[in-house]
Amino acid sequence: MSGLQNYSSQLLKYTRLFNNGCVASLRSTATSSFEMIQRERKVSANNYDPSSVVLSRGEGIFMWDVEGKKYYDFVGGLATLNQGHCHPKIINAMTDQLNKLHHTTRAIFHDSLYELNEFLTEQFDYEKVLNMNTGVEGGESSIKIARKWGYRVKKIKHNQAEVVSAHGNFWGQTIAAISASTDPTSWNEFGPFVPGYQIVSYDDLKQFIGEPLQDEAGAVVPTLGYLKGVRELCTKHNVLWIDDEIIQAGLGRTGKMLAVDYENVKPDLLILGKALSGGVYPMEYPIMSTS
Ligand SMILES: Cc1ncc(COP(=O)(O)O)c(C=O)c1O
Repeated sequence: MSGLQNYSSQLLKYTRLFNNGCVASLRSTATSSFEMIQRERKVSANNYDPSSVVLSRGEGIFMWDVEGKKYYDFVGGLATLNQGHCHPKIINAMTDQLNKLHHTTRAIFHDSLYELNEFLTEQFDYEKVLNMNTGVEGGESSIKIARKWGYRVKKIKHNQAEVVSAHGNFWGQTIAAISASTDPTSWNEFGPFVPGYQIVSYDDLKQFIGEPLQDEAGAVVPTLGYLKGVRELCTKHNVLWIDDEIIQAGLGRTGKMLAVDYENVKPDLLILGKALSGGVYPMEYPIMSTS
């Protein structure tokens, strides 16, 4: 068998395996939520400890479990579903696009990416968008951008850049993100860690970087004037301010479009997340000024 034939037969085998897997996952073979929980626990890593409810349908603010019980959704997919479950406009836009073209890679232009990024830059008054998939990638990319700026523009000594994070921060679960964490359940037994972080107290103006209000730490809202003070301090010391509005802060969660709008301040990099796509597609984007 030639290399090409071998490759095609493997690809065919893989496609059949994938198709069978998809069909199996669409047709539930368990008969109760209890059975589903047992089966999921057996084969899924226990990185979360979910409540014992198994959901099978959602619409607007409501959800239904597999036994048909109706719930109000006060969780909102942890700030992913700001527009509610299965919003018809979002689902229709998504399915229309999926039926036309669902992936190009960033190595080739796509006929609608420019419109999305034009919309975002106009809406938030920045110049560039970096399209990423997860919040933690948004955070890591922002740090990379800030470091490069530090070395090229601010002329920081090679490999000496520092990222200042607030106590109680949470921006994801990669090694880089947990290296900045102050929560032992995030980092215990996962070291060694990434150097280059300084941890400072939250809501204390000697310092900064991170969420304008903290979510994972328990919905911690800063004193009025803190964000303005952060902006002034960063400007004074020529430090870039990365504002993580991925979860509870951004896209209307606090009543304004952004939490920083409460103090009318503009961060240097803004990271927007989960609800950008209504939860149907992973989108988490750093947005920034080119200067
Ligand atoms: C404020 C904040 N930033 C970043 C993240 C990381 O997002 P992701 O889970 O998509 O990596 C989270 C996750 O909950 C978060 O709460």
